[in-house]
Order: sequence, then structure tokens, then C-alpha cells
Amino acid sequence: MKFKLDNGFIVYERNGIGIPLLFIHGYPLSRRIWKPQMEGLPDAASLISVDLRGHGESYPFEGPYTMDLLADDCKRLLDDLNIKSPIVVCGLSMGGYVAMALIRRYPHILRGVILTSTRSGPDSSEAKRNRDAAIINVREHGVSFIVNNMLPKMVSPMALSSKPKLVDTIHNIMMETSVKGIVGALQRMRDRPDSTPLLSQINYPVLIIHGADDQLISIHEAETMKQQIPDSRLIAIPEAGHLPNLEQPEKFNQAIRVFVQSLA
Ligand code: MLT
Repeated sequence: MKFKLDNGFIVYERNGIGIPLLFIHGYPLSRRIWKPQMEGLPDAASLISVDLRGHGESYPFEGPYTMDLLADDCKRLLDDLNIKSPIVVCGLSMGGYVAMALIRRYPHILRGVILTSTRSGPDSSEAKRNRDAAIINVREHGVSFIVNNMLPKMVSPMALSSKPKLVDTIHNIMMETSVKGIVGALQRMRDRPDSTPLLSQINYPVLIIHGADDQLISIHEAETMKQQIPDSRLIAIPEAGHLPNLEQPEKFNQAIRVFVQSLA
């Protein structure tokens, strides 16, 4: 389904009944990463998955995309869907940065938060330099340059060597991202604020899910967030990398199911 936004649109999907649960994907990915959740959890919650601007089937808006802008897009979609009850948000990696912007900007719309494969801190100087180099490279060499560099680190070493179909699916999802989407996201992930001071202020339940073998964001980041969020729980999923929802969907879905039930 399409939601008209400014001079373009964003695409989203819905399935299920219950408390609204909004899934926000990472970079450079799309709502397609949530297929096992959209198909596996319709009895647990009213599921919504969205393609952020410039990603998946959404319109390739001109960047840059601040995390606040992406959070505002999500809020505008929720308003358009007439969702008034408090929601659960589940953000993966960059989607987690967007979830933190939602916490900052719209704390009253949230009932619970799921932070997966993400971190609260800002980019280091080295990470900022890498973002700048990636912007130049994607403009010069296209999306495949980013995909080929990032794909081997997207999943656990185990999945990389033994799950070729899954790796191929992730490759295709990444390749669907527009150059404008990649640049727009890189520019403002680079400049995103430090959300660490926010953590101790969060006053609803938070579930942190992290792949034990995540090579892009270490599990130590998840442990650090757990220590600072008052009502939080961390589930480390073995034999999973940056995309535990795709690598170990049953364990991931079970964690979400239990969390959502605990909010009833
Ligand atoms: C993501 O998966 O969204 C990215 O790895 C996040 C980042 O580059 O900081």
C-alpha cells in the first residue's frame, strides 16, 4: 500500500490484529526483511512494516534524511492510518536510530520498544570518514559497490557459508535501494545525535535483541544500552549476525511474542 508524502510516497504493509507494532528496517534494506515477522506474528499484534524514504519501493526522495525526518514520516503514516492507541516500535540498526528519534519526539505514542542490532551512541570520527567515503563511492560506482562491501558482514559467518538462499535474498533487498536513499541515509546517520542520555529516561518496557555474532554492531553495544534503560531485557541470539530476524526467525518471533504479551 502507498501513503502519499510530500512530493512522493512511502510504501507499507499491514497484517494481523492486536496492539499496533511498527517495524522499521535498517540501511540499506527495506520492509522485505520483516517477512518472517509479518507472516509469523499476525495473531500477536497489528503489524505494520514500512519502506523508509529512498528504500525498497518508496519514492527516492532527495536527501539528506535526518533520523528525525524518518521518524516524522513514520508518525505521519500512523496518523494517516488513524492509529491512536499506543504502539510498539521495533527498529533494526538504522531503524533503531529512528526508533530513538520517535522516543525523543513522540514519547506519548509508545507503549513499548524493541531495539535490535542497534546502538545509542553517535558515529566515531573514523565511522564518519567511512560514511563520507561511502557517499563518494556509491555516487561513482553505484549501489553494488556498497552491497558487495557490506553483505559479508550483514550475516553471521555461519549463515554466509551455509545459507546461500538467505544471503541471495538479502543481496537482492539491498540492491533495490536507490542511490539517493543510500546517500540520504549515510549523510545523516553520520551526523545523528548521541541518544545515550535518552536511555535512562525511557519509562516503558524495552526489549533489546542482538545477534551474538553481529559483525557490524557488536553485542557490547546492546549490553551497554541494557545497563542504562531502567525496564529492559536483552536477548542475545546465538548463530545470528546483524539480521537475527532473518537468520533465526523462530527465536526472534518468540521473543517478540512474549514481549508483546507482557504489555497486555
Ligand atoms: C544498518 O544496518 O542500518 C547500518 O549498519 C547502521 C549503520 O551503518 O550505522
